[in-house]
Amino acid sequence: MSFRFTRAIVRPPSSNFADGLTSAALGTPDFALALEQHAQYCDALERVGLELERLPEDPAHPDATFVEDTAILSVRCNVLTRPGASSRAGEVKAIRAALASLDIKPTTIESPGTLDGGDICEAGEHFFIGISQRTNWEGAAQLAAFLTKAGYTSSCIDIRAIPGILHLKSGIASLGDERIVAIDSLAGHLARRNHELVRVPPGEEYAANCVRVNDHVLMAAGFPGMQHTLEQLCYDLIVLDMSEFQKMDGGLSCLSLRF
Ligand code: GLY
Repeated sequence: MSFRFTRAIVRPPSSNFADGLTSAALGTPDFALALEQHAQYCDALERVGLELERLPEDPAHPDATFVEDTAILSVRCNVLTRPGASSRAGEVKAIRAALASLDIKPTTIESPGTLDGGDICEAGEHFFIGISQRTNWEGAAQLAAFLTKAGYTSSCIDIRAIPGILHLKSGIASLGDERIVAIDSLAGHLARRNHELVRVPPGEEYAANCVRVNDHVLMAAGFPGMQHTLEQLCYDLIVLDMSEFQKMDGGLSCLSLRF
């Protein structure tokens, strides 16, 4: 991986985290355990060399720990999103302020466009944009225009009929090196592009949401088949317990904005 991340924005869950949106029938998250898992996630990002911008918890927005949905940050294009769930719209304000303090000047997705960062997968010079319950065609078109202007290419994948995934990145992840992790139901959508597919073993779909950060790959604990696959590909893995975030439809990528 040639580009190296140096920073990330993170935000811990608030005590009303369990009031956030979820479609997972996995029970109520344990707040103390979620805080512990978030702390371990932040430790892992620091261990792989990132300086963290730590925002305070935001009880007004129980999903605010999933900061990835509020912005797309890349080398030549920075965009504030317009989250597709109305309860999450207010999360963008704090991210706008955080980016301003870091001297990052993003463009913005405007109404009637909606777009969640979890639907955007950057794979080298190409971006996959998921059309989902959160990201609409108008939001995707606005982002595609920003990306084109910045010299990137993009394509859309409609995930609305694919069961069990909230966002595109619930089912795919870019590992760099022209490799993309994909669950079976999304693999066909990626086949036309020039990427090597790394298939997620059936039954381990949650593990698709792994995160390449510099020389390491962060992956969720409890998925031995996927762990074996990534070990065979010689990635340096950091395996993190994500149980409490999984209960709230969140994955590893959702918990940070990396840049
Ligand atoms: N709980 C994450 C989301 O639904 O956006």
